[in-house]
Amino acid sequence: MNASSRAAGAVPEPVPLGCPALYERGFDAAAGRLAAPGGPALRPVTLNGGLRAWAATEPALARGILTDPRLTNDIAEVGTPVQGFPDRRYPEDFFAHAPQLLSASGERHRRLRRIVAPYFSAAAVASMAARLRCGTARIIEDLADRDRIDIVTDFALPLAGAAVGEILDIPADRRLPAVTAALAASAVDPAAEDAGAAHRAFSRTVLNVIGVARRSTAATPATALLRAQRAGEISSAELAGMIGMLLIGTVDSLTTVVPAGTLMAVRRPDVRHGLSHDTGPTTALTEEILRLNPPFQHTGWRFTREPCRIADVPLPHGAVVVTSLLAANLDPGLWPDPLRADPHRAAPGSHLSFGHGPHYCLGAALGRQLVHSALTGLFGRLPGLGLADTAGELTWHGTCLRRLDSLPADPGGGHRMPPGRVPHSSK
Ligand code: HEM
Repeated sequence: MNASSRAAGAVPEPVPLGCPALYERGFDAAAGRLAAPGGPALRPVTLNGGLRAWAATEPALARGILTDPRLTNDIAEVGTPVQGFPDRRYPEDFFAHAPQLLSASGERHRRLRRIVAPYFSAAAVASMAARLRCGTARIIEDLADRDRIDIVTDFALPLAGAAVGEILDIPADRRLPAVTAALAASAVDPAAEDAGAAHRAFSRTVLNVIGVARRSTAATPATALLRAQRAGEISSAELAGMIGMLLIGTVDSLTTVVPAGTLMAVRRPDVRHGLSHDTGPTTALTEEILRLNPPFQHTGWRFTREPCRIADVPLPHGAVVVTSLLAANLDPGLWPDPLRADPHRAAPGSHLSFGHGPHYCLGAALGRQLVHSALTGLFGRLPGLGLADTAGELTWHGTCLRRLDSLPADPGGGHRMPPGRVPHSSK
C-alpha cells in the first residue's frame, strides 16, 4: 500500500482473499498482505469468482462481526441481488443455494440448529468419537503394511467416510462414494462443464441418505430432520440442504485439515515428536495444528442488513463481509511468533478455526477429537512416516478451502511401532 492510499478515508485496492496454505510458497507474503501493520482492520477483497467483499483480519474484529446483529447470513433478508451474488460464486459455496444453517439467520437458524444440536452434545460426541477411534485405528493398521501410501486418498478420505457414516448412518459400502461426491461438488468450478454433473451426483447422494433414513430406526441427525419434515416443521428443501451441509461440512473439513496436519508434522520434528508421543484425548498441540491449518480459511459471507459502519468503514446495505480465520489466527499480539506450533501457549484453543458466535461449528468437539486421534494415531504407529520420494511439488487447490489432492508418503520403513501403540484404540 502506498502513502497516498493510506491517507485518511482512502479505501485500499481490493486484494484476492485466500491465503496460500502454510507450506505453500509465498505464504509469508500473502499473510503479510492481509495483515499489513497500519492497514485498515476491515479490508476490501475479492473472492474467487469476482465477488467483492470486506474481510476482517483481526481476532477481536472477527469475533465482533460474527456476533453483529446488523449482519445476516440470509441473502433473502437483503432484498436486492448483491453484486450478482450468488450467481458469481466462489467454488466452495454449495452453501449459497441450499437452505441450511449457514445460509440462515435469527429464528430460522435457531429452529434448524435445535433439531440437530442434541446429536452433537458432549455425551453423543463421546460415544461417536469412541467408535470412530476404533475405525481410525483400523484404517491406520491397513496403511502400516504398505510401502507407499497417499495420505489424502488412503487416510483422509476413508476417515471422512467413517465420520459421515457415523454421523448420518450411511452404510459402509456407500461411504466412500458419498465422500467423493461431496468433494467433487464442493471443489468444482461453477463455470466448468462438469459442474452440473457434479452437483447432480451430490444431490443423488443426499437423496440416498434420506432414503436410508426413511427405513432407519436409528437416532441420527438425518432421522431427526426427516421427522421434522414429516411434522411440517421444515421444508423438503431444508431437509436436503441440512443433510448436504452436514455431509460437506464433515468431508471438507477433515479431508483438508488431516493432510495439512500430516504435512506439518512431517516437516517439523517437534510436531512429529509431540504427536507420536501423545496419549491424551485431546491436546494443546492439536489445537496449534488446527490454529495453523484452518480448513476454512475464511468464514462464509455475512450481508449488511442496513447501511452501517464497521471498524470505521462505511458499508452500504447488502455489502458482503467475511472474516479471515487464518489471518486472525496469526495475530502476533495473541500468538507471538505465530507460525510456530507451540503447545505451551497461554490459550492455544482460543483460535478461530471453528468460527465464533451463533454459527460456531456444530461439529467442533467431534472434529477436534477426530483430528487428534487421526494424527496421534498415525504418528504413534508410524513415527518414521515421511514424504515419498515421488511426492514432488505439492499442489494446493481452492481458495476458501486450500486442499491437497494427493500427499504421497512412505510409511517409514523399519520405524513402525507395534499395533498396540495406536493411541486410544481400545478406550
Ligand atoms: C476440524 C474440523 C472442522 C472445522 C475446523 C470446522 C470449521 C467450521 C467453521 C469455521 C464453521 C463456521 C462457518 C461460518 O461461520 O461461516 C463451521 C460451521 C459448521 N460446522 Fe464445522 N468444522 C469442522 C468439522 C465439522 C464436523 C465434523 C461437522 C459435523 C457435522 C461440522 C458441522 C458444522 C455445522 C453444522 C456448521 C454450521 C453451524 C451453524 O451455522 O450454526 N463441522 N465449521
